[in-house]
Amino acid sequence: MTYKSMPKVELHTHIEGCAPPAFIRSLAKEKSIDISGIFNADGTYAYRDFNHFLEVYEAACTTLQGPQDFYRLTKAVLEESASHGVVYQETFVSPDFCGGGDVSAWREYLAAIEDAATEAERDLGITLKCVATCVRHFGGEKAQAAAKCAAETKGDFVTGFGMGGAETFGRPADYAYAYDMAREAGLSLTCHAGEWGGPEMIAETLRDLKVTRIGHGVDAIKDPALMQQIVETDVTLEVCPGSNVFLKATGGWADHPIQKLRDAGVKVTVSTDDPPFFSTTMTDEFNMLAQTFGWTEDDFNEVNQTALAAAFCDADTRATVA
Ligand code: ADE
Ligand code: ZN
Repeated sequence: MTYKSMPKVELHTHIEGCAPPAFIRSLAKEKSIDISGIFNADGTYAYRDFNHFLEVYEAACTTLQGPQDFYRLTKAVLEESASHGVVYQETFVSPDFCGGGDVSAWREYLAAIEDAATEAERDLGITLKCVATCVRHFGGEKAQAAAKCAAETKGDFVTGFGMGGAETFGRPADYAYAYDMAREAGLSLTCHAGEWGGPEMIAETLRDLKVTRIGHGVDAIKDPALMQQIVETDVTLEVCPGSNVFLKATGGWADHPIQKLRDAGVKVTVSTDDPPFFSTTMTDEFNMLAQTFGWTEDDFNEVNQTALAAAFCDADTRATVA
């Protein structure tokens, strides 16, 4: 049994991180940018560890230079997602890579991304929402500029605010002002935590940034009291098992904590994060969960419903997707 055609709800992807290496290579060629060092001989992305992954990721982003590049990227990403049964997807988009935090440039990039999303919804039946995202290791000031971009464009398409990047850089409180701006604008909130930073980082993120979702959050498994808090406060985890296994944030598939988190009553969802970087797809994630933990269609239906309930969209969209 393969789960390729089963409908899927995916909450945690990064638009730039979904770019196939061939797509980035062709942009680099068009623009005469030499980034040959970021590819293996077989054409895949080459990196040694998580910090190097972030460097390679940012090098790939240098080829994405205008709204039109993001239009093409979004088209390609949604075609691939739809081919794996994804019917609703949220993607992180960083104002830092879309105009450098300038609000009017950001509006132009967003318009291009939203055009591609509208066309994909019409042609492929996939809905995309945008979570504007700051990059943690770019620091608090850049995070505030990103939050301003997010706040100014909050609407039917930009529905959330988030933070990715190097989790061990700074503390959540350094980003509280940015998150306050986003919350006051009415955006829904998520933040990467507990991928690398331990359960303390999750606890601090919940306390200082008041998010309703945590990106990854797998380190919660190391602290039963925190797991209980997560259950009681209805926080949803955006778990990306293939990403964790590939980057060695956790052990292998058999040791991945998603099963134990779910058994403890934690709301878990399943996403790919940056699929071409981790050699994964939503079909692979579902197939591996079925193979490793014996998940069946009922389990995947439940996970989809959990994701939809935690999705940063309005009730109308939720009803259309369900
Ligand atoms: N940006 C893209 N992928 C990421 C990940 N897995 N963790 C943190 N930041 C990221
Ligand atoms: Zn991520």
